Amino acid sequence: MPITVLIGTQWGDEGKGRVVDVLAREADIVARYNGGDNAGHSITIGDNVIRLHLIPSGIFYAHVTCLLGSGMVVNPKNLLRELEEVRSAGYDVSPERIQLSESAHLVLPTHVALDAAMERARADGALGTTMRGIGVAYASKMQRTNLRASDLRDAERFADLLHKQIEQTNQQLANEYHAALLDADALCAEYHDYALRLAPYIVNTARTVHDALARGAHIVAEGAQGVLLDIDLGTYPFVTSSSTGVAGVLNGLGVGPQAITRVVGVAKAFSTRVGSGPFPTELHDEIGARLRGTGANPWDEFGSTTGRPRRTGWLDLVALKYAIRTNGIGELVLTKLDVLSGLDELNVCVAYELSGARVSDFPTDAAALNAVTPQYVTLDGWQDDVSRARKRSDLPNLAHTYVDYIETQLGVPITMISVGPEREQIICAD
Ligand code: GDP
Ligand code: IMO
Ligand code: MG
Repeated sequence: MPITVLIGTQWGDEGKGRVVDVLAREADIVARYNGGDNAGHSITIGDNVIRLHLIPSGIFYAHVTCLLGSGMVVNPKNLLRELEEVRSAGYDVSPERIQLSESAHLVLPTHVALDAAMERARADGALGTTMRGIGVAYASKMQRTNLRASDLRDAERFADLLHKQIEQTNQQLANEYHAALLDADALCAEYHDYALRLAPYIVNTARTVHDALARGAHIVAEGAQGVLLDIDLGTYPFVTSSSTGVAGVLNGLGVGPQAITRVVGVAKAFSTRVGSGPFPTELHDEIGARLRGTGANPWDEFGSTTGRPRRTGWLDLVALKYAIRTNGIGELVLTKLDVLSGLDELNVCVAYELSGARVSDFPTDAAALNAVTPQYVTLDGWQDDVSRARKRSDLPNLAHTYVDYIETQLGVPITMISVGPEREQIICAD
């Protein structure tokens, strides 16, 4: 069982961190392959809820090595902060356990400043980014002008290169965006220190992966975001700037497709989206508010990275089928089934209507997707609390029916059902 890929099938926040934490029990390596600290993966261990943005969600098991792969964009300052947070929560974050790919690109203050300036300039057309500089860092990678983790190895040279990058960006900030300038000298001194502190973590992670595969180790590839936010497959331009799905694993870890033996999709039992963009099954009523929660529970639908309220809606099987097809997903994990308890009826979107015609293919054109009307099948809800179910047979009949319906419609097995954020609140195959 070499590489198990775990990807989000919706617009992110499906509970990937929570599921990786389950899969990591039997893994040797957990490796993030895409994105940066735009991700927020929450893991609940006893009374603690830990939110990871860059560190892979396998970190809480001492036997797991965590890799930050070449497909990621990594903010050095935020990585150091997160290492410190996890260390002070009692976990080993030494370079023996965490490796940062020398080929991973860096997210620098220039990217963060430009992300904010560009979002402001978009005004009503803003994408609603996480303001973490992600899109600008990936753009700079593609322009072949960016700095990579390997550049951190020589702190003096890195500080010089950063100085030049800041001077150029300051011109752009002043001339194009009339935005505040960055203090090059102060930032270079600060980042010189970060380079020294991160240097021990930087390795060729592809070699680590190849050696692990050669000895038959089990690797879990942890996706960030979700298929509908993928740069190619998602609802462009309302997407993130990386390959969030299975394709991202190949370049993001440096492996061939034959190393991947299992592709697991994570789907929330309803839909959410944070940021702008089309969302056919979005609810603007009290059911939507109920799905979101008030923020009183740690799992309520408020962004883990930005705190923004997430948009909520019914489960969308048209979108899920698309995510499954485009990524070769062989099995699904359904999360947050417990949140649906107590609703009288549940709608499930099975098709769209577009210009009077029934459509069962997910339109990737944002304008078309904005124009569709979801076609629903209505199922009866259940009233009982399901959070103590540990076997499928523990679920009330109507919850069973909901899960069976999704499984039948999608044509892939649901191999795990999460009924709460805690480690034991999961139903594995009966
Ligand atoms: P990720 O980005 O895909 O890792 O998901 P997030 O961590 O951003 O958001 C998922 C939230 O739901 C987290 O607070 C999880 O602890 C929580 N969560 C995951 N699975 C369940 C579940 O089955 N039930 C409940 N109530 N919360 C869950
Ligand atoms: P996890 O891994 C949900 C969204 C942002 C915005 C768009 C582009 O926790 O599921 P970006 O900052 O990436 O340029 O923003 O993508 N977005 C996410 N939404 N979960 C995430 O990560 C996200 N990462 C980015 O809200 O709409
Ligand atoms: Mg998240």
